[in-house]
Amino acid sequence: MGVCGAGGLKSFFLTGLFFLITEYLLKNIELAERKAELNGYYRLHAPIYDLTRWTFLFGRNKLVRVLTSNLSGKPPKTILDVGCGTGKNVIALKRAFPDAQVVGCDLSDAMLARAQAAVKHSLNPREMSKIELINASILTLKDRQFDLIVCSYMLSMTGDSLEPILHNIRRRLNPKGKLAVVDFNFSALSMFRRWMRVNHVSLDGSVLRALALCAKVERQELHQAFGIWNWFLWIGR
Ligand SMILES: C[S@@+](CC[C@H](N)C(=O)[O-])C[C@H]1O[C@@H](n2cnc3c(N)ncnc32)[C@H](O)[C@@H]1O
Repeated sequence: MGVCGAGGLKSFFLTGLFFLITEYLLKNIELAERKAELNGYYRLHAPIYDLTRWTFLFGRNKLVRVLTSNLSGKPPKTILDVGCGTGKNVIALKRAFPDAQVVGCDLSDAMLARAQAAVKHSLNPREMSKIELINASILTLKDRQFDLIVCSYMLSMTGDSLEPILHNIRRRLNPKGKLAVVDFNFSALSMFRRWMRVNHVSLDGSVLRALALCAKVERQELHQAFGIWNWFLWIGR
């Protein structure tokens, strides 16, 4: 009985260990696949990103303006920009909150290289000393907490990983921290939705639906773009 109990316990732990290792490996394979996919896409798009995206990624400047003027409580000391792309928001957030440590993370090598060059070009050495640009997903950014986390046109690119990514983002917030999002919401035109899907973007309203499950919404705005799609600005936690 004793031997059988010890054997049972051993196989219970070995099975548990097997599942943990499998889950860890699957998560890493998924992340590596996502990284390869984004690298492939942005290798072509990074050089023309800043020249083209201002024509349809609306609300990015407004988000920083709203955060600067209307954020209740103390100014954030630690800020994370998830999917920081070419660094536009990293620079704007550093200027808006001069005392803050600003971290930008992105999985695309080409976008991150652009962000590094833009930061170097736009900020002085003192400002730069409080900037970190990391080649990572929020899923791998462990053990850090932030007062403000910004997601600008990033969550609509996360597909099936939206919920785990959002869960991880919220776990990285300090108790009084805020999440600020600007992103695509929905298009009723199926052809346009399909075209955006080719560009890795979901326009099915899933991001705002997932955010609606968050505990506290501080601000939410919905805006039309050319009558073709709508985009939103959301601040909460
Ligand atoms: C449309 S761009 C937005 C860039 C920037 N935030 C802006 O507003 O201009 C989306 C960025 O998110 C990055 N991205 C997408 N999924 C990601 C993930 N799971 N982890 C980190 N970065 C991600 C992409 O590599 C890309 O640079």
